[in-house]
Amino acid sequence: MTPQELAELFRQNFQAQPEVFSAPGRVNLIGEHTDYNDGFVLPSAIGFYAHVAVSARADKKLSIRSTEFPDVYDFDLRNAPMKKLGAWCDYVLGVAIELASAGFGTTGANLLVHGEVPIGAGLSSSAALEVASALALLSLEGAELPLSAIAKLCQKAENEFVGARVGIMDQFVSCHGREAHAVLLDCRSLGYELVPIPDTVKLVISNTMVKHELSGGEYNLRREQCEQGVEILSRSYPHIKALRDVTGAQLAAQEESMPAVIYKRCLHVVQENERVLQTAERFRSGDLPGVGRLMRDSHQSLRDLYEVSCRELDIMVEAAEGLPGFIGGRMTGGGFGGCTVNLVRTGNAEAFSQAIASHYQEKTGIFPDIYICSPAHGAGAELKKAVV
Ligand code: GLA
Repeated sequence: MTPQELAELFRQNFQAQPEVFSAPGRVNLIGEHTDYNDGFVLPSAIGFYAHVAVSARADKKLSIRSTEFPDVYDFDLRNAPMKKLGAWCDYVLGVAIELASAGFGTTGANLLVHGEVPIGAGLSSSAALEVASALALLSLEGAELPLSAIAKLCQKAENEFVGARVGIMDQFVSCHGREAHAVLLDCRSLGYELVPIPDTVKLVISNTMVKHELSGGEYNLRREQCEQGVEILSRSYPHIKALRDVTGAQLAAQEESMPAVIYKRCLHVVQENERVLQTAERFRSGDLPGVGRLMRDSHQSLRDLYEVSCRELDIMVEAAEGLPGFIGGRMTGGGFGGCTVNLVRTGNAEAFSQAIASHYQEKTGIFPDIYICSPAHGAGAELKKAVV
């Protein structure tokens, strides 16, 4: 659905003229479960967007509708529910509540949302919806916030309202992504650098069709385990505030002082941070096979040390090996289902997609969706607002 079509639907629903704001989903090339450890990540925005059409209301009501779901949600902002409803509107409502507590929620709004990002696939459909909603609601106030502040506000909405203790990666890249680039982000300082991705390669994203559910306990449990690791390590090294601050040698020296499972989690994060910096360097120097090796190492570590892969993800990763044009691949996002990301030579991408789909189907009986993507613009680059 184009922004123009969404606007037309909006006029039919609300008898008002909207503006349309858009923000993309993302794929993470490497740096998994490092963001909430103050570490490094290397995601790209992808060309699937959440679009939010918005118009102001004279009252303080928020009326939220979707093109995909029949439910209609009407809230009075002055006594909106302070807990999630367990529905898609939580992401919009959470953002509206955060904006209000930051002093921006004075106007009522009609909102119609349309999401292109596959839901539950680990491609950040929720971050896309949050960022597009924030831009839409802010526009009614005539207010502009720096993009990084918008990303943080959306993360807070997901942490506090939706209850998933996600890091900053998804919202940040949804704001700051850039066509033909990955975003090398330092999740502590929020300093970032754009790393060119050559057009000789495609990001082939393979959806296992196994849904992942972030507010499910495993994600939050991994965070707690990392915090336990920091607590133990900081007894010996008081300057350590997050796993970002830990070197491989320090961790090895403390192996005996922590439960084996905590050690494994910490080892993944410490090594994954290193891999992110190395991957950015390999992209810069044109060493694509080197990137491929690092992606494979990342997957193994997520499978064996961090234990967030699953049978279907492992099968999808294995299905790519040996296919023409394949450079490297790994699970992407939080894990427990969702997608793998494969770096594939552009000329081979179509044939690769067909081959990986049939290998996966043979082994699992599930027919996967495959998306051939290139790094796309984030919400901050040109597409903040569609003219309708
Ligand atoms: C999810 C979260 C991110 C990040 C990844 C794992 O996508 O939203 O913040 O933690 O998992 O890297």
